Amino acid sequence: MATLLHIDASLFPGEASASRTVTAAFADAWREAHPDGTVVHRDLAADPLPHIDALTVSAAFSDPATHTEAQAAAHAARLALVEEAEAADAIVIGAPMYNFGLASSLKAWIDHVILAGRTLGEGTQSLAGKPVVIVASRGGSYEPGTPREDMEFVKNYLASVLSAHLGITPEFITIQLTLAASNPAMADLIPLAEQSRAEALAQADAKARELALRLSGDPVAV
Ligand SMILES: Cc1cc2nc3c(=O)[nH]c(=O)nc-3n(C[C@H](O)[C@H](O)[C@H](O)COP(=O)(O)O)c2cc1C
Repeated sequence: MATLLHIDASLFPGEASASRTVTAAFADAWREAHPDGTVVHRDLAADPLPHIDALTVSAAFSDPATHTEAQAAAHAARLALVEEAEAADAIVIGAPMYNFGLASSLKAWIDHVILAGRTLGEGTQSLAGKPVVIVASRGGSYEPGTPREDMEFVKNYLASVLSAHLGITPEFITIQLTLAASNPAMADLIPLAEQSRAEALAQADAKARELALRLSGDPVAV
């Protein structure tokens, strides 16, 4: 039995969100391919984490025996996030682009989960090698060769931080041009937007089934 950790960060619910639509398709395919498996859903917009703060950092760098009540609570909450990620056999993350970068709720999750001596550090990277699929949604396009390719700070950031700090090589599913249908200036891009959405949904379905098959060891998970 394998566990999928399904993380969303979009401000918008359900099908109003491109990333949620694709992560939900991923989770549905996972469930279908691996009915005995588990899906844990963490909604960072509905249930936001606190920004990492001095109390939380001081707790990580001090002897737990010396923790104040507040430090102990902050550290326990952080460890719960780390343990949730460690317990997952695979993770799918919805990563909407806001102002060229990550949703701040997702950045908060990353700041909590990168924990020296546990997930970060030589010989201690407890999440190293974990399969992570990132659904990167954006209103425009930042693909190589487009005018704004240098302003892509979601996929580039996540690839760097997950690899350098956690030993994870994420795979990306990109759903782009999501504003084409609502922005008259992007009307010509609607066919490309529809193509991107169809491709993202197909990739999510295929990737979830492949991972479920690989991680569950269940020969019927195809
Ligand atoms: C606050 C905010 C900032 C945004 N900034 C950008 C941006 O810098 N570049 C872009 O291409 N789209 C931007 N968008 C559009 C979103 O990336 C787009 O709506 C995407 O589909 C978001 O993912 P979601 O549909 O899962 O919420 C922004 C949207 C919001 C709400």
